[in-house]
Amino acid sequence: MSFDLVMFGGTGDLAWRKLMPALFQAFRHGTLPEGGRIIGVGRDDLSHDQYRALIQSRFEKVELAKRPSAEEFARFAAILEFVRMDLSKAEDYVRLAETLNARNADGIVMYVATAPSLFTNVCEQLAASGLNSPKVRIVLEKPLGHDLASNRAINQTVSRFFAEEQVYRIDHYLGKPSVQNLFAMRFGNALFEPLWRREHIANIQITIAEDLGVESRGAFYETTGALRDMVQNHALQLLCAIAMEPPINAGADAIRDEKLKVLRSLKPWTQETLKQDVVRGQYSAGTSGGAKVPGYREETGVNPQSNTETFVALRTEIANWRWAGVPFYIRTGKRLSGRDARIVINFRPTPHAIFNSNVGVGNRLVINLQPKDGLELHLLAQGQDNRQTRGSASQTLAPVQLDLDFDKRFGSERVGAYERLLLDVIDGRLNLFVRSDEQEEAWRWVEPMLEHWAADTTGPRLYAAGTWGPSASSAMIARDGFCWSEES
Ligand code: BG6
Repeated sequence: MSFDLVMFGGTGDLAWRKLMPALFQAFRHGTLPEGGRIIGVGRDDLSHDQYRALIQSRFEKVELAKRPSAEEFARFAAILEFVRMDLSKAEDYVRLAETLNARNADGIVMYVATAPSLFTNVCEQLAASGLNSPKVRIVLEKPLGHDLASNRAINQTVSRFFAEEQVYRIDHYLGKPSVQNLFAMRFGNALFEPLWRREHIANIQITIAEDLGVESRGAFYETTGALRDMVQNHALQLLCAIAMEPPINAGADAIRDEKLKVLRSLKPWTQETLKQDVVRGQYSAGTSGGAKVPGYREETGVNPQSNTETFVALRTEIANWRWAGVPFYIRTGKRLSGRDARIVINFRPTPHAIFNSNVGVGNRLVINLQPKDGLELHLLAQGQDNRQTRGSASQTLAPVQLDLDFDKRFGSERVGAYERLLLDVIDGRLNLFVRSDEQEEAWRWVEPMLEHWAADTTGPRLYAAGTWGPSASSAMIARDGFCWSEES
């Protein structure tokens, strides 16, 4: 199947950091369909060769394993082209249409990796120049809006020109191998399903911790913050993957219907839960990787009095039969003590303890997302030689771990998130993309937090860079008698 992939924002950060390396990996793995062409779009006046040289120079900054050799790049460069466009000018879309029509590829992917403020204009203009026929798919990067109203406005404009099945709203967390494995573990194995419910699960913790600060994105982050940047999308998508009912099949709508039900069942916020169950934080100066790092308010592009949150911890519940009463904790932040993303399922302890050490200790399933991905099942076992206590009822159990290291098992066969998602768009598979109603429901749920913070002049709690966030986050979970997994 021949395809044209048009990358708006083709010289931008996302293009060279994530999209081009992902497309190159697919090319290297031989999974990029034959007959493809990748067209970078940007404002600069570049020839095809100058664009190729630019992308090649950017590959120098990509991690070594993902960098092409000169010979590999030369082969990849043969499918790279550049089109100069001013996205506000109708005539530039007409020229783009001519370029695409001349080749008449089987499928056309429009990847809109630009500032979100341009999305609606790009959609309108594409349609005006006839670039919205059924063989065109449009990929929209987050953030899709700033709140429910702006998200709806974007979705409504997009839906005037593109059918829902042409729209690929990307959340790269859904493409991560560990998230694929979460689906595989839950719906490809019968083992956990009977236990996957309130009767057996005490609490669930989702952590997406980053050690990096805001880097060069201070100005963007100022108007975004951790709730919009990570919770509204990535964290809630992970929560859906854990909490959803088994879909009737692996089709996109079957999966998305179930995720939507979870989002609709999230407990609505009240003034009391907004105060008690949500912690917002902001990093102050500290250390990261042994080096001193500035606080958020000292970062370039950031207001020195900024109240933007770089950390959020929250507690919620899902009001349905499967999950009623089970706390779900979400925590994410920048400049935390490490890059560490994981989901921890804490099972209830045995109903009656006959050993010393299992009073109150339950089993734990850990789904590691990064830096390494895999599954750990924590059990209690009789490991040591209990000579003194043998035969008595006071034997002591020790924690042991069943460790499934997907890195070791699947190694280089595994496909990165963007690679996987880009191939899905080219092949027209929507399963791992977010439908407009899901996205709106997620905004509806986060909005009361945004409103509460806007009215709350106390601002975020400061935490030193390199820690696990404000102590209020531990206090929040301790109120339920639990603790974050690294504290146990
Ligand atoms: C992006 C956020 O969506 O996800 C960034 O905008 C964040 O702020 C990034 O750093 C995290 O992605 P990953 O894959 O590195 O965990």
